Amino acid sequence: MQESLETLREEILDRVAHCGSEPELDHLRVEYLGRKGRITLLLRGLREIPAEERPQAGEQLNRLRQLVEEQLEARLAELKAREKERILREERVDITLPGSRWERGQIHPLTLVMDEIIDVFLGMGFEIARGPDIEDDYHNFEALNMPKDHPARDMQDTFFVSQERVLRTHTSPVQIRVMESRKPPLQIIAPGAVYRHDDDATHSPMFHQVEGFMVDGHISFADLKGVLTHFIRRIFRAEIKVRFRPSFFPFTEPSAEIDIECMLCGGKGIPKDQQVCRVCRGSGWLEILGAGMIDPQVFRFVGYDPEKVSGFAFGMGVERIAMLKFGIEDIRLFFQNDIRFLRQFACL
Ligand code: PHE
Repeated sequence: MQESLETLREEILDRVAHCGSEPELDHLRVEYLGRKGRITLLLRGLREIPAEERPQAGEQLNRLRQLVEEQLEARLAELKAREKERILREERVDITLPGSRWERGQIHPLTLVMDEIIDVFLGMGFEIARGPDIEDDYHNFEALNMPKDHPARDMQDTFFVSQERVLRTHTSPVQIRVMESRKPPLQIIAPGAVYRHDDDATHSPMFHQVEGFMVDGHISFADLKGVLTHFIRRIFRAEIKVRFRPSFFPFTEPSAEIDIECMLCGGKGIPKDQQVCRVCRGSGWLEILGAGMIDPQVFRFVGYDPEKVSGFAFGMGVERIAMLKFGIEDIRLFFQNDIRFLRQFACL
């Protein structure tokens, strides 16, 4: 007994010392101290040994059991400490390293220009209206005097959502929506995204327009000229030359396109280096607006009496104005999210 206890003790101490994980340690505990553990069984077996040997054997066994318990505890503490140390080592943070910096955003150049445009019109008493990007055929075309077979409905430019629904190709349908639901006097601008199937350095499949219109009893072309000339002078500069050139839109009559003098060549068409100006291609003028007096036919569509009311409407491309203002040559720069491009507008 004496000797076998000694061997058992050695064996247990050795196994505990070499035990490498908590589950393994639990196993050992069960194996020796569990309900059917070896030490437990030995303690239970005391009953069968002669009475005079029992106290000594019992004491020895109890001491062994206590020792094993202590050793298991100690080993467990050791394993835990070691694990903690490993975690501390592996997850160590070098607090002397420089922190990562938060990039600070700024207003997108298109938003800057859009806000500036809106501000000028708010200053003249216009109010803002909005319409849906997905528009029905009626509002995008039909009510703007473009029947189904009208050549102005260039199939290639329109994104169709279904037979009857399109991504609006311009902001003019907002004219219809506002006039359908309200009566004159109206003085409205409608900023927003528009969509056309077109993609190159000066065209983007999604771009922005600001529509504007004014309807009342006696609105004339002179009002149109006054409002738009004021607008252009505010957005570009006070002395800029402006030209109203006859044009055509199905929903305005008469119609005009409005040009400003080319900012690169100063309207000369041929800059100093004697090559044809690449911005205006030698014409000296840049088109920035489409406009006209609202066609009587459009008034009939919205239930207005063209004998009693008149009005003007205009529409402009925001990207184009931003490109001219900032000297940007490729429209795609607006949508590439290149931080090097966007940062240049931080201070504006
Ligand atoms: N909707 C026209 C376009 O997108 C612009 C325009 C608006 C012209 C209002 C006249 C009147 O080209």
